[in-house]
Amino acid sequence: MKILQVGAEVFPLVKTGGLADVMGALPQALIAEGADVRLLLPGFPAILAGLKKPALVCEVGAVFGAGRVRLLRGALAVSGVPAYVVDAPYFYQREGNPYLAADGSEWPDNAQRFALLGWVAAQVASGGLDPAWAPDVLHAHDWHAAMACAYVAANPGAKVATVFTVHNLAYQGLFDARDFHLLGLPIRYMDPTRLEYHGKFSFMKAGLTSARCITTVSPSYAQEIATSEFGCGLDGVVRSRGADVSGILNGVDDAVWNPSTDKDIPARYSASDLAGKAVCKAALQQALGLRVDAKAPLFTLVSRLTPQKGLDLVLAAIPEMLATGAQLAVQGTGDAVLEKAFREAMAAHPGAMAVRIGYDETFAHQMIAGADAMLVPSRFEPCGLTQLYALRYGTVPVVRHVGGLIDTVVDADASSLQANTATGFMFGPATREALALAVHRAVHDFAQPDVWKQLQRRGMAQNFSWAAAATQYLALYQALGVPAQAA
Ligand code: ADP
Ligand code: GLC
Repeated sequence: MKILQVGAEVFPLVKTGGLADVMGALPQALIAEGADVRLLLPGFPAILAGLKKPALVCEVGAVFGAGRVRLLRGALAVSGVPAYVVDAPYFYQREGNPYLAADGSEWPDNAQRFALLGWVAAQVASGGLDPAWAPDVLHAHDWHAAMACAYVAANPGAKVATVFTVHNLAYQGLFDARDFHLLGLPIRYMDPTRLEYHGKFSFMKAGLTSARCITTVSPSYAQEIATSEFGCGLDGVVRSRGADVSGILNGVDDAVWNPSTDKDIPARYSASDLAGKAVCKAALQQALGLRVDAKAPLFTLVSRLTPQKGLDLVLAAIPEMLATGAQLAVQGTGDAVLEKAFREAMAAHPGAMAVRIGYDETFAHQMIAGADAMLVPSRFEPCGLTQLYALRYGTVPVVRHVGGLIDTVVDADASSLQANTATGFMFGPATREALALAVHRAVHDFAQPDVWKQLQRRGMAQNFSWAAAATQYLALYQALGVPAQAA
């Protein structure tokens, strides 16, 4: 089966969040299952630099006002996964965040930049750009790639099956109606049943209305986005797709997130020998300027600092958390107001709380390995990866009962402890009190080494594998009528 995976990020080259981890790992897992997979990515500087043996597939010409556009093909140097790259210097040769200018505002030509990505993907998928290869399935990720599904739908000759994965419904790619003509789609697509959204046009809606089927990154989030609470204004569209919407849980890339092989942490360890974890904790406390104390429960959090992540709850709960004797360390970047609030909280609690503002992949490994517990208090969470990494590293997750967190963590209540299934702590209401109570419960169990070790070991034994996710995606592609051995 030939599959084209289209997205705007890929670990480790361009990453703003979990999407990159998925784009890095899923193709490899599909290839391991025997599929013929290629990526299609925008030619950001880091992606061009990470492409091994780039060869020109074709000159695409001057489309979308992008100047010279070329389609290159090579393989990602880091993984060997074959990749097409849309080389459009005028659109993509911009350093830093793929979507935002240095001042944090969206690039004014984002509609054209990501329409181009989708359009080239649809052209490759229709067999028009690479005479040597065309996929059976075009799988587009998030709004950045969603237009690929619309361009395929608008081409009556296209045979390819389209799948659209929603990683985060809150980011929609919403643009001014005046720019619709730039997309090169028939005007009938500027319609509420297609792209039109309250007088604007929405790339997310393009994916939701034109893909043959839709997935989200956890079964619970697939149900949630059909409700007005989590639908971000698109729940009606989601409901209209009925059984075409399903959830497939993300996995953990074992080559990147594995405490027994991780070169980014000071000592390696496994479920049968946790000694190295104590070394990681002491080193982390030291690095962060926290009191080096094995007995103080250390909670960490690694996150984009955005309203999604429930960080206001953490800020409000700090005094109660620290009063239990716990320590708290936060690593993140994003919202300037949250950055400032965390900095101020750190200054108010020297030795007990630390904050690292910035993006640092290596240090994220140390934060996850060195912690006793990891906070993920999200208001919504399509899947969430840090709680999966935490489980893998014997770091007990403390999460809110929402989205993928529901599907990946088992709350340590009396019955799950009795049944030996508990892996973490979960709270319901998005309130300071509920978070503080969950932290109290974790601190209480941390003080009982036998109970805590059981939680750690059970978490480490969980198997959130990309192989399992790949098997489900392949079954989904086949259900669309694509034979497993399609030529
Ligand atoms: P989201 O995609 O919503 O940001 P996920 O939990 O799916 O949430 O993925 C977040 C990814 O980004 C994880 O790999 C996490 O380790 C990483 N991450 C988030 N913030 C930072 C940061 N400041 N430094 C390093 N890695 C980070
Ligand atoms: C999104 C979601 C996150 C998910 C990630 C990868 O950014 O916010 O929950 O884990 O995509 O699918």
